[in-house]
Amino acid sequence: MEREFILSPSLLSCDFGRLADELAALEEAGLKWVHWDVMDGRFVPNITLGAPIIKALRKRSKLFFDVHLMIEEPERYIADFIDAGADLICVHAEATRHLERTVSEIRRMGAKCAVALNPATSLFDIEYLIPQLDMALIMSVNPGFGGQKFIPFTLDKIHELALLRDDWNPEMLIQVDGGCAPENTPDLVEAGADVLVSGSAFFGFPPYRERHETFLRAAGAI
Ligand code: DX5
Ligand code: ZN
Repeated sequence: MEREFILSPSLLSCDFGRLADELAALEEAGLKWVHWDVMDGRFVPNITLGAPIIKALRKRSKLFFDVHLMIEEPERYIADFIDAGADLICVHAEATRHLERTVSEIRRMGAKCAVALNPATSLFDIEYLIPQLDMALIMSVNPGFGGQKFIPFTLDKIHELALLRDDWNPEMLIQVDGGCAPENTPDLVEAGADVLVSGSAFFGFPPYRERHETFLRAAGAI
């Protein structure tokens, strides 16, 4: 199967005071996805933004909204985020008690569905759900903050997930989030990553079109 490389810039590292302009700049620079980090101060020790802000910006952007929910009991808010215009909703396996139900709900309500795993969480937590997922997210830092160092053992985890994916659902995308940069992109893609999230290593290096190209080149996509 031909695999396409996608970069999903994490808005956590953008200028929050200029969110609408940043989204426009990403679109202008040829990006297709954008990553929203939603944090509740409970699942992770930080608070960011919620559905009303995403909804307000939805009107201004055609980008694919990749919404990463780092919140406890995400099932309580799925309808709100879909109503806000999320194209894909990613919940953490550690944050919801009945993961299969949560995944089914997201699909039933019409969004694409992903499950994220913290670095120390086993792949076996999602093994049976792989056939139902559009994407699985391997966290390569402990979620909560941008600009952290990539945890090396997660590279093996990506590789092992890619093997499971080949058996159970070749269409499922593998996303990696935390400490991704052009420097480690070749290894991540080689291990099986399709979608890389990048916050600090993207927004810290304008212009965005050139930085996107640097990632694409590192991934062997251009
Ligand atoms: C971490 C977030 C990430 C983060 C990535 O909790 O889920 O999306 O912002 O930022 P960098 O690329 O700076 O590690
Ligand atoms: Zn994220």
